[in-house]
Amino acid sequence: MSITTLGQFVIEKQQDFSYAKGELSRLLRDIGIASKIISREVNKAGLTQILGEHGSVNVQGEDVKKLDIIGNETFIWALEKGGEVCAMASEENDDMVLLEGKFSKHGKYVVCIDPLDGSSNIDVNVSIGTIFSIYRRISEPGTEANLQDVLQAGNRLVAAGYVVYGTSTMLVYSTGKGVNGFTLDPSIGEFCLSHPDIKTPADGKVYSLNEGNAGEFSEGLNNYLAWVKGTDKATSRPYTARYIGSMVADFHRNLLKGGVFIYPPTAKSPNGKLRLLFECIPMSFIAEQAGGIATTGTMRVLDVEPTEIHQRVPVIMGSANMVKKVQEFM
Ligand code: AHG
Ligand code: MN
Ligand code: MN
Repeated sequence: MSITTLGQFVIEKQQDFSYAKGELSRLLRDIGIASKIISREVNKAGLTQILGEHGSVNVQGEDVKKLDIIGNETFIWALEKGGEVCAMASEENDDMVLLEGKFSKHGKYVVCIDPLDGSSNIDVNVSIGTIFSIYRRISEPGTEANLQDVLQAGNRLVAAGYVVYGTSTMLVYSTGKGVNGFTLDPSIGEFCLSHPDIKTPADGKVYSLNEGNAGEFSEGLNNYLAWVKGTDKATSRPYTARYIGSMVADFHRNLLKGGVFIYPPTAKSPNGKLRLLFECIPMSFIAEQAGGIATTGTMRVLDVEPTEIHQRVPVIMGSANMVKKVQEFM
């Protein structure tokens, strides 16, 4: 048999970490379990009336969909059962969540999640995702976790990854030693290694951003857009626009094929839209681990020191040469 499941892979890799006592492996297993449950819910969402608005509004002032809540609760459940995590920060909760499992207080890790990314695509059967990141706690195990535990810069990450619920469900993660991708085989209910050691191309064709906001972009970014489109010259350029509106799906395509993903500052939102802890840090970590670049435009995303849980930052990430080109214009 030539398949390697996520569980087998994680155990094999445990020896890469001399300090590892198996907690991180168990935590990654728990995240895999939560992801499979969310994948199941996503796949039958059209049948079970969990599409649509939930009627409440999340802390960002956006409508919360039912699947967002299911995703959030599934993660809390899995992490409380596992007991490796003392606290969690989630896009769906105003404040840090202290986990209440039997062993949670002694957990060495904290987790930040965007349980459901791309919620505007849920109702229309378009790819959505989950994003997660794992840090070692700063406070003493056994004590109550505090805000400092979740407000850590990306350069302190232990692991991060995402799940994309697309034509298949895929989990992609890194512990800082490269990036590996696993595809869910529904017939055996396991994530199987399908994309070992992912490296993103240094160049690509795809640029991904919401051009509907162009009226609010900086002059530099609009000049870049004119450049990629070739409207500054008679000759056309080899670039193509792709934008799904689910960061996970847009990022995943660009990671594999080469491309640049941009969520820039706009006149209305000078820090862009995407959240530092839940979206930008974990995806930047994966981008870098695959050989790409991720910047806010002024600094490396992973070096930003978070000051609040729901902080937003602009982001330009993906193929190294494409990111550099955007920066030249900006
Ligand atoms: P979420 O569904 O977790 O709120 O995230 C949506 C995000 C991200 O997935 C996507 O890249 C971006 O919002 C799209 O925003 P615009 O509609 O402004 O382009
Ligand atoms: Mn999101
Ligand atoms: Mn979300």
